[in-house]
Amino acid sequence: MAKPRLFVTRELPGGWRERVSRYYDVEVWPEYTPPPYEVLLEKARGADALATLLTDRVDCRLIESSPRLRIIAQYAVGYDNIDVECATRRGVYVANTPGVLTDATADLTWALILAVTRRVVEADRFVRSGEWWKTGTGWHPTMLLGFQISGATLGVIGMGRIGRAVARRAKGFGMRVIYHSRRRLPREVEEELGAEYADLETLLREADVVTIHVPLTPETEGLIGERELRMMKRTAYLVNTSRGRVVDLDALTRALREGWIAGAALDVFPQEPLPPDHPITRLDNVVLTPHIGSATWQTRTKMADLVAENLIAFAEGRIPPTLVNREVVKVRPPGFH
Ligand code: NAP
Ligand code: GLV
Ligand code: GLV
Repeated sequence: MAKPRLFVTRELPGGWRERVSRYYDVEVWPEYTPPPYEVLLEKARGADALATLLTDRVDCRLIESSPRLRIIAQYAVGYDNIDVECATRRGVYVANTPGVLTDATADLTWALILAVTRRVVEADRFVRSGEWWKTGTGWHPTMLLGFQISGATLGVIGMGRIGRAVARRAKGFGMRVIYHSRRRLPREVEEELGAEYADLETLLREADVVTIHVPLTPETEGLIGERELRMMKRTAYLVNTSRGRVVDLDALTRALREGWIAGAALDVFPQEPLPPDHPITRLDNVVLTPHIGSATWQTRTKMADLVAENLIAFAEGRIPPTLVNREVVKVRPPGFH
């Protein structure tokens, strides 16, 4: 019997291809940029399985026009680019890559927290541009003063895997941690993390650094807008490594320009790549990175391995280990039949 056909929308690191090739006929999109939507539509039409990235739009039109499609294995933990409800209805399994990228993303969040509060990127520019040279002094009591995070309050919005990893690291910096999620954590987890529950408004009013770790959903889209930014302290910082559309970028740009808050660090944007002429790129009190939360060799390889495990489990008639849509099992059993 012919092997099921797998279309992978980008070359992934590590040895995943060899393992998956025992089960699938594999085609990999060879370009650095994503396949255009029309191409993806065409490839999906002939595929039994897809391995996708967050840059691929997997909407209901695509799912419904792909009669052979049985599984979508996303190379990311977030899957807001996929119409999961539609996939479930059509008996299509959706899997993601949770857990293996938690530490890498929490580490980058900390890199951003430190970079923005201690003005690391601005200071680097100061040295390279010759501004430091021009001051004529190697050290000055008030040169590039920042905000000290030890003893300050960290506010975590979305206390899931990454939010908790960020909170754990805060202990090393001697910070007080408050958090907000829809559900409060069990008391023993709060104690282990050293974190107190707060409603969103209290968190925004009290935190010196607000860091966002919610998935993008209809409920979290625009969660942080003008109203919320105006609740924050004028001395506070906003860090976002979740999804760009959780924050109203235009409101944030105004907040930074007009001093409603002290600074921001962003790894994610409503439009990616961020257009280089966006007004936020002209502000000094902001640190910008190009969606690199999980970007370490170790993590990106583990993510590819987990995509392979999900695809292999499904091909063997088992439930993929990190299945997103549990209910799909009632629509169709796993496997190619
Ligand atoms: P997770 O374990 O599912 O955590 C998400 C948390 O958000 C949960 O604790 C959830 O708790 C909370 N939440 C959901 N809706 C909420 C709402 N409306 N208000 C408040 N809290 C809400 O996910 P994760 O693995 O930590 O990943 C989080 C997100 O990070 C991903 O979805 C992805 O978009 C993003 N991410 C970005 C990068 C990057 O490269 N920058 C890398 C990895 C992940 P409740 O259900 O109790 O509300
Ligand atoms: C990255 O943004 C992810 O969701 O894994
Ligand atoms: C700074 O370099 C100091 O010695 O305080």
